[in-house]
Amino acid sequence: MSQTRSDLRTIQPSARIALLSDIHGTSSDLDLSRLRARRLQQAIEAINGECPDAVLVAGDLTENGDREDLAGIRTRLDLLNAPWYAVPGNHDVGPKAGIADDQPTSIGTAAYEEVMGPSCYTATVGPVRITGLNTSLLGSGLPEESAQWRTVERDAEPLPGPFRILLLHYPLFADHEREEAGSYWSLDPEPRQRLMAAILRADHHLIVSGHLHRPFVREWRGRALIGAPAIAFGLPPNDRSVGWMRLTVGGDGRVTAEERPLAVADEVR
Ligand SMILES: [Fe+2]
Ligand SMILES: [Fe+2]
Repeated sequence: MSQTRSDLRTIQPSARIALLSDIHGTSSDLDLSRLRARRLQQAIEAINGECPDAVLVAGDLTENGDREDLAGIRTRLDLLNAPWYAVPGNHDVGPKAGIADDQPTSIGTAAYEEVMGPSCYTATVGPVRITGLNTSLLGSGLPEESAQWRTVERDAEPLPGPFRILLLHYPLFADHEREEAGSYWSLDPEPRQRLMAAILRADHHLIVSGHLHRPFVREWRGRALIGAPAIAFGLPPNDRSVGWMRLTVGGDGRVTAEERPLAVADEVR
């Protein structure tokens, strides 16, 4: 996959990151449960074989946010040798505001956090600083949204050292940054603009996301935007590519992204 230039600051040493997403773990359908568990296991073994410094999981860990499914995915992710960091997706905590929902996002978030820990955080791993956000809350107006903005905006001053990564589920935009409100696929314009301003202020170098179930690598204002392929199934539905991504951050701030497809049995859907 193509190489994307992040910014030009000197960063040292380099870091290796594994990015996976959209596991959609479920125990309600036995065939899907086995298939997706096999795919996740295959990805975990491949990732462990490449010895990354950290693993990022970009949301939709489960199909419907079921507590036991979340706990099961957590147990499997603990088989990773590297430290891993996850954020919730719309299937875990409910969708962003304005999309039909049968579960208030604040309740979904509380249930997720009981099993997985905070859905919004910062963490430092070697030369990398990760900010994880619960993007379903952005633009919701819920009290929990304020904590998200405090985390991302409190952290908004550029730092001299770490390579900064923002971990999202919803991408900033699916195809172009002027996408209108109400899209299923990306953040709405208001939270998108606010988040973009924070990204530029904080000098986040790399923004990774899930949700689209198809990989992409883009450059946006000198930053790298990278979308993860899914573990569970590719989109559009006849696209059978599933897998994860290996990201390498060079000492010069360059990000190299390589897709790692899984060789898998037939999907049953
Ligand atoms: Fe998904
Ligand atoms: Fe999603």
